Amino acid sequence: MRQLQLSRAFTLMESGPVVLVTTHDGKQHNIMTISWTMVLDFTPEFAITTGEWNHSFAALRKNRECVIAIPTVDMLDQVVGIGTCSGADTDKFARFKLTPVQGKVVKAPLIKECLANIECKVVDIVRKHNIVVLEAVAAYVDPARKEKRTVHAVGDGTFIVDGRKMDRRKMMASKVPDGL
Ligand SMILES: Cc1cc2nc3c(=O)[nH]c(=O)nc-3n(C[C@H](O)[C@H](O)[C@H](O)COP(=O)(O)O)c2cc1C
Repeated sequence: MRQLQLSRAFTLMESGPVVLVTTHDGKQHNIMTISWTMVLDFTPEFAITTGEWNHSFAALRKNRECVIAIPTVDMLDQVVGIGTCSGADTDKFARFKLTPVQGKVVKAPLIKECLANIECKVVDIVRKHNIVVLEAVAAYVDPARKEKRTVHAVGDGTFIVDGRKMDRRKMMASKVPDGL
């Protein structure tokens, strides 16, 4: 993985891909699948919606850190598998043949097989709405990866795969931060 400028981290999330969120509870690594995500602004702050119904939440709340890993379409069955079993009784890295890689800042691992990874600190948990607010502290992309298409959950068990990329950079010049 190559280090990505932190000010570009939001571009990994802006298009709303299904993501994998890793945690470390002090004893073991875990992964969950998350499709309810949001970029909060141009700073690297994000929100995810999750709560006590997931095993990962206890680690998220206790250690206040995680990694958002960005999977691609070739990983769809792993993504759905990870989101339909629990770390309470399953080592998901072993079961789904994924490789944990130590990041620079947080204890939660990066996922080597993913297109990109964002190390995050939990900065707030809005309990009323189960919103976890994250601040990115380091980001990485794998430039050697051929498959770059992410997937987007419809919510009914079907998914949309990235399609054509269209350029409106000139029209959006007044809205896009300098240097992006
Ligand atoms: C495609 C997909 C998207 C999901 N999105 C979310 C989500 O946004 N928030 C959430 O709390 N759970 C979501 N889930 C469910 C969790 O990933 C699932 O409950 C998982 O088993 C939690 O793992 P854990 O118990 O090891 O933490 C999703 C599952 C799938 C398959």
